Amino acid sequence: MTQEIIICHNLEADLTQAIAQCPHDRLFVLADTTTAQLCWPLLSAYPCMRQATLITIGATDEHKTLETLSQVWTALQQGGASRHSLLVNLGGGMVTDLGGFAASTFKRGIAFINIPTTLLSMVDAAVGGKTGINFGGLKNEIGVFNCAHTVLLDSVFLRTLNDQNMLSGYAEMLKHGLISDKAHWAELLRFDLEDIDYATLGGMVAHSVAIKERIVTQDPTEQGIRKALNLGHTVGHAFESMALERSKPVLHGYAVAWGLVCELYLSAKLAGFPKQQLTQTIQFVRSHYGTFPFDCRHYDRLYDLMTHDKKNEGGIINFTLLADIGDIRINQHATKEDIMDMLDFYRECM
Ligand code: GLY
Repeated sequence: MTQEIIICHNLEADLTQAIAQCPHDRLFVLADTTTAQLCWPLLSAYPCMRQATLITIGATDEHKTLETLSQVWTALQQGGASRHSLLVNLGGGMVTDLGGFAASTFKRGIAFINIPTTLLSMVDAAVGGKTGINFGGLKNEIGVFNCAHTVLLDSVFLRTLNDQNMLSGYAEMLKHGLISDKAHWAELLRFDLEDIDYATLGGMVAHSVAIKERIVTQDPTEQGIRKALNLGHTVGHAFESMALERSKPVLHGYAVAWGLVCELYLSAKLAGFPKQQLTQTIQFVRSHYGTFPFDCRHYDRLYDLMTHDKKNEGGIINFTLLADIGDIRINQHATKEDIMDMLDFYRECM
C-alpha cells in the first residue's frame, strides 16, 4: 500500500502528470457542493480535465452516508465507468473518505487521486488509505484501507479556509508534533495563527504529512505504531459524539484539541509526560479552541462513549499516551477512576 504525496508548486502540471500515470478510459471528479463551486472552476479549466465528468454530493459529515455512496456508484455506472476508470476526489475529509471508498468498491476497485482542499484533509484524512462512511450512528463505521494513487497537496486552497476550519486541521498538526519531536511541537505553538504566513504554513504542512506518512508506511493497517495517530482521539471522539447528541456538532479538530488536553493529563499521570509541556500545550489549546462545556453529570455518558470507541479491544478502553514528546506508548489502559480524575482536571484547567 503505497501512495505518492506531492507538495504542489504547479497544480496543473502535477495533476496532469498524476492522471497520466493512471491510464484510464473515463475520468470522474467527485466534489461536494462547496468545492464544486469554489475549487472545481480552477481545475475544470485545465486541459487534463476536459473529458472529466463532475459528480457533486452534499457537503458536510451528515452526507457521509450509504445513500450518498449509492449516489456516487450510480453516477459512475450511468457515466459509463469501467474497472479502468479514474476518480479524482476534490474536497475535505468527507469527500476523500467517501470518494476513496466508492472507488475502492466500484467494480472491485478503480484508481483514485485525492486533492484535499482543507487543512484537516491535507494533513490527515486524504493521506494514509483510510476510506469509509458513517453508519448506524457511528463515524467511519464501514470502510476499507486503500490508498489513493496520488495525493496532491496545494496550499492555494488554504487561503480561503475560515478560521474554524484552519484550527480544526491545525489540531491534527499539533498531534503530529506531539508524537514526533520537540522542535516541531515548539514551532507549532509559536506559529501566529492570527496573521498566517502561508509560506511557513505550507512548510509545516509538508513536515506534518511526512510524519503521518512515515508512521503509515510502517503500519498501514493499524496493528501497532499507527495507533500513535489516535492520540487525543479516544476522548476527542467522546466529546464529538456528545456534541452531536446535544445537536451542537463541533468540528473534528476542536474535539481532538480538547482530547489532547485530557490524554496528555493521563500521559503525565500514567507515563511520566513532563508537566511543563503539558501546561504549554493546555495554554495553546485553551486560547485557540476555547473549551467543551460539561459538568460531573456528564461524566458517565462520556465514559460510556469512550468504551464504545472502535479502537478498543475486548471492551477495554485503549489509549495512546506519551512518556515525552515523541516517546509513544500505544495500547495503554486507564482505570475508571483515572478517567474521572482526567475529566475533573480538564474542567479545572480549561
Ligand atoms: N486519522 C488517523 C489515521 O489515519 O490513522
